Amino acid sequence: MNLHRPVSGSTPEQLIASLMQVREQLHALVACLPEDGWLGPRDPILNPPLWELGHIIWFQERWCLRTQADGRVADSLLPDADALYDSSSVPHDTRWDLALLPPAALDAYANRVTAAVTARLRGAFTPALAYLAELCLYHELMHIEAWWMAFQYLGYAPPAALTLPDALPLLASRLALAEADVTLGSGTGEGFIFDNEKWRHTVRVPACDIDTSLVSEAAFAAFVDAGGYQLRTAWSQAGWDWRTASGATQPVYWRKSDVGWQVRRFDQWSPLLAGTPMLHVNCFEAEACAAWLGRRLPSAAEWQHATGIDGFDWGAGWEWTRDAFAPYPGFEPDPYRDYSQPWFHTHQELRGGGPVTDARLKRCGFRNFYLPQRRDAFAGFRTAST
Ligand SMILES: [Fe+2]
Repeated sequence: MNLHRPVSGSTPEQLIASLMQVREQLHALVACLPEDGWLGPRDPILNPPLWELGHIIWFQERWCLRTQADGRVADSLLPDADALYDSSSVPHDTRWDLALLPPAALDAYANRVTAAVTARLRGAFTPALAYLAELCLYHELMHIEAWWMAFQYLGYAPPAALTLPDALPLLASRLALAEADVTLGSGTGEGFIFDNEKWRHTVRVPACDIDTSLVSEAAFAAFVDAGGYQLRTAWSQAGWDWRTASGATQPVYWRKSDVGWQVRRFDQWSPLLAGTPMLHVNCFEAEACAAWLGRRLPSAAEWQHATGIDGFDWGAGWEWTRDAFAPYPGFEPDPYRDYSQPWFHTHQELRGGGPVTDARLKRCGFRNFYLPQRRDAFAGFRTAST
């Protein structure tokens, strides 16, 4: 199979160990589900965990075991697997109603898939298989992040407390960016990439200045306390439409107490941490706060330009950019065709990675994307000069 993409540098044993270690992270989350948590509430931004776990195992079997050299897909170990767990064909709102495997049967399916994938990596290792194993690894890591988002959204206690940075200044320091040709996208032979990074090209970026760090909870509180959610001029038309339709008057996980704002972090309420990045804002809230500060969101190219300059801190949260998620010139989908393509132009591009993002996904060129109204992501923002 010629996959026309970078070849993984990992050995079979490294891939086997990584897959096992990531599965342990998933099991730690499963162990923290409440008693009625296997299905959980029906919600457009959630999946039932029982479905999602099955989907992760199905995905690994689909790509690492069932993919044939001629492009055909062999049968699953599980009757009806595709009808249950294929995210491209199983409508989201039906996932609570399917005859999903119960947890014990899911464990048995997972064990069979893991054993077969391990045997295949040891016995029939090729660059194409290495690519597919890494695809499954990253896919599972992204679902794990989605589970952390769901734990925050639902107020579940997580497997471990997060270490949040608490040293951001109220007024961010800024870096001057000179006009430059900025390289976006990746080349061949640089390790695993998703199709949306194909291929390397340059774009001209005008001079601006950009914050060295994310906007903090304290800085965002100043916007809220100044009536920012009622200030029509701070919001884009789409942002104002969202604000009025949703009735939002403050960040989603905040409440006002006698002693000031409090934030819910998973199952615990606490005071604002003044120097902690403001997370769980959507793109509209980020744009409005930036506009109120007399600034704007940076473009992805400006953001990537800044990562090459000393003093630019990133990785404390996903960061909304001003860019719609869109294909680079010459884009072609990879074999997992629905990774990027269905979401172009409707989703917004984010960069950086947050407190629940695995280090393997924190690359300055990695392109994340969410619908602009999503508030459940561990996403914040920084600002740039207008
Ligand atoms: Fe998935």
